Amino acid sequence: MQASSATAARRRRILDEMGIAVWARRGRLEAPPLETPRPETPDWQRLREAVGHCTACTLHRTRTQTVFGVGSPTARWMVIGEAPGAEEDRQGEPFVGAAGKLLNEMLRAVGVERGAVFIANILKCRPPNNRDPLPEEVSACAGHLQAQIELVAPALILAVGRIAAQNLLQEPVPLGRLRGRVHAWGARAIPLVVTYHPAYLLRSPADKRKAWDDLRMARELVDPRQP
Ligand code: URA
Repeated sequence: MQASSATAARRRRILDEMGIAVWARRGRLEAPPLETPRPETPDWQRLREAVGHCTACTLHRTRTQTVFGVGSPTARWMVIGEAPGAEEDRQGEPFVGAAGKLLNEMLRAVGVERGAVFIANILKCRPPNNRDPLPEEVSACAGHLQAQIELVAPALILAVGRIAAQNLLQEPVPLGRLRGRVHAWGARAIPLVVTYHPAYLLRSPADKRKAWDDLRMARELVDPRQP
């Protein structure tokens, strides 16, 4: 399908914001139609409730609110980050700050809107001063994330950043050694691709090209837009 000039201009702007000059097949970067919101199933409601009232680690004392996750409950891609930051803690939604804006652009660059994936974090509560999650916090929250993955049943998991990748894969090695290949997560061996955290990319834009390679690899494996 031929891209309209407005779509082409929008695509150029998105890739410019990612700092990437890309030649891609036309049609690949078209935005999908927005999903019609569906009512939550009882399982989702129960999980949302459990997360909202969770006191399994000390982070509940300092949070403004829990940050459950957002997106399509039937998404093909599940994006998993580290933990809420200050803005996420305020708004109750993951990736809404500057890093979130870049994450949205990264997703758009592979033709998918934020609302068509499911976005969650390893932790549902903000660690004070954005410090790294502690192992006991990750363990306390692991059941929530596991339940979310089971409910979404994604065809692909995109782990963004070192903390997400190391905890999901249980491999305490540098991110550079985890990206560039396809891993398998859990009993269903869900394909898992690792890429840089958008907050890191804001500080190190030279690595955006590698992030683009990661996203393209993920898209080749599983088209995030197919039902
Ligand atoms: N960084 C993350 O890893 N997750 C968020 O929700 C926000 C910033």
